[in-house]
Amino acid sequence: MALYSSISPGALVLMLLIFPALINNLAAKHGHTTTIYHHHHHHQQHHHNRLPEKAVLNNRLQRAYIAFQAWKRVIYSDPKNFTSNWDGPNVCNYSGVYCAPYPNNTKIQVVAGIDLNHWDLAGFLPDEIGLLSDLALIHLNSNRFCGILPQSLSNLTSLYELDLSNNRFVGPFPSVVLSLPSLKYLDLRYNEFEGKVPSELFNKNLDAIFVNNNHLTSVLPPNFGTAPASVLVFANNKFGGCLPPSIANLANTLEELLLINTSIKGCLPQEVGFLYKLKVLDVSYNKIVGPIPYSIAGLAHLEVLNLGHNMMTGVVPDGVCCLPNLSNFTFSYNYFCEEEGICRNLTSKGIMFDDRRNCLPDKPQQRSKKECDAVDQHPVDCSQNCSDSLH
Ligand SMILES: *[C@@H]1O[C@H](CO)[C@@H](O)[C@H](O)[C@H]1NC(C)=O
Ligand SMILES: *[C@@H]1O[C@H](CO)[C@@H](O)[C@H](O)[C@H]1NC(C)=O
Ligand SMILES: *[C@@H]1O[C@H](CO)[C@@H](O)[C@H](O)[C@H]1NC(C)=O
Ligand SMILES: *[C@@H]1O[C@H](CO)[C@@H](O)[C@H](O)[C@H]1NC(C)=O
Ligand SMILES: *[C@@H]1O[C@H](CO)[C@@H](O)[C@H](O)[C@H]1NC(C)=O
Ligand SMILES: *[C@@H]1O[C@H](CO)[C@@H](O)[C@H](O)[C@H]1NC(C)=O
Ligand SMILES: *[C@@H]1O[C@H](CO)[C@@H](O)[C@H](O)[C@H]1NC(C)=O
Ligand SMILES: *[C@@H]1O[C@H](CO)[C@@H](O)[C@H](O)[C@H]1NC(C)=O
Ligand SMILES: *[C@@H]1O[C@H](CO)[C@@H](O)[C@H](O)[C@H]1NC(C)=O
Repeated sequence: MALYSSISPGALVLMLLIFPALINNLAAKHGHTTTIYHHHHHHQQHHHNRLPEKAVLNNRLQRAYIAFQAWKRVIYSDPKNFTSNWDGPNVCNYSGVYCAPYPNNTKIQVVAGIDLNHWDLAGFLPDEIGLLSDLALIHLNSNRFCGILPQSLSNLTSLYELDLSNNRFVGPFPSVVLSLPSLKYLDLRYNEFEGKVPSELFNKNLDAIFVNNNHLTSVLPPNFGTAPASVLVFANNKFGGCLPPSIANLANTLEELLLINTSIKGCLPQEVGFLYKLKVLDVSYNKIVGPIPYSIAGLAHLEVLNLGHNMMTGVVPDGVCCLPNLSNFTFSYNYFCEEEGICRNLTSKGIMFDDRRNCLPDKPQQRSKKECDAVDQHPVDCSQNCSDSLH
């Protein structure tokens, strides 16, 4: 299923672009230069770690060294041998590790990024990951990391981007991410997180939230916070409930809202039309009833609108089909009974569309009269609250 985000997760280019800005925000701590032998820690050092006698590392890189060695010990499969050079004290030379000057003392380097995308590693995240406290980016997309996220992640106070997508993380929604003060980009998609999405997630200062393709079950919070998010992707979870009118709280920032296949019921609230920056709205494969809120005709930036595979009724309003930048409008597999004005001929406007399997007279591939009549006899009252509008 296509998820159209304009943000390409795991893009190292992005990481390099945002670095100069991030560096200014890196947590303020002194970096002392000492030798690695001065470090006392309780982890068993393995003999294969070659430590040149005069290897000079600041204590931040020393902690990173401990973290990477601990991590390497719990990586059980590395089919492409990417971590084979995770040896010795020069952590900045390790594959997938990116160092940057420490802001308060630009003479020293700290580990600012990890990018292991598509390495196919199997293992888990050790508690020692909390020692990498200067990290701004973690990209672990497409590996086989499993287990739960260590609580020590909360130590990563500079973490800006966390991409754990396409792994095998399990357990409840990892609330440790809520404690990361600098986090802007959260990508947990394609894992096996389950249960409730904490409503606190919507009070965080996040720009993009991807939680699609997990086993999350909670309803969307009745009171969306004011997360300044531009992208929310919740597809393929079992949320249930209705899209709350408080979605309007995200109006000043939200550009993409993807709620595909999330078991959402009830009518679309008029407030969807308050999300004036929306470019992509996809609520397909749900149990939405009732009409298209006319307010959608006010979404001037809308490019992609997908209402397909619901139980919506009524008229497809001309105002929506007239939207200047609309390029793809899918409303197939509903019970719409009329296409108003230009909606009858979207081809003439160069808009990709799909209106199959509705109740549209004179259009090909529509539902049977029997199917359409059955729905006609149970009008939907959207003025009732969410639970009442359900059948
Ligand atoms: C690091 O720099 C920041 C901002 O310049 C400052 O607020 C902070 O106190 C400094 N930290 C230390 C440990 O010197
Ligand atoms: C990885 O390293 C192991 C042992 O060092 C070796 O047997 C294997 O061929 C290497 N695999 C690749 C893909 O280089
Ligand atoms: C890091 O690796 C580069 C080449 O891969 C090498 O030239 C350099 O000496 C290494 N630095 C250290 C400190 O090992
Ligand atoms: C958190 O980071 C600090 C350094 O910034 C380090 O001293 C401490 O051990 C870390 N705590 C954990 C739990 O990793
Ligand atoms: C919807 O999501 C469920 C899991 O929640 C999945 O099993 C099903 O295949 C998805 N349906 C579609 C049409 O993608
Ligand atoms: C429509 O798209 C064009 C080209 O991408 C863009 O320049 C313009 O600002 C868009 N208009 C609106 C209202 O979003
Ligand atoms: C239009 O949207 C539908 C539904 O999301 C998608 O299947 C189709 O590929 C899109 N068409 C184009 C040309 O992007
Ligand atoms: C739709 O509009 C196009 C171009 O304006 C025209 O050629 C076509 O006949 C129209 N189709 C219908 C069904 O009216
Ligand atoms: C929902 O509607 C029922 C019956 O109409 C009513 O008793 C209930 O108070 C309403 N709940 C809310 C939250 O409006």
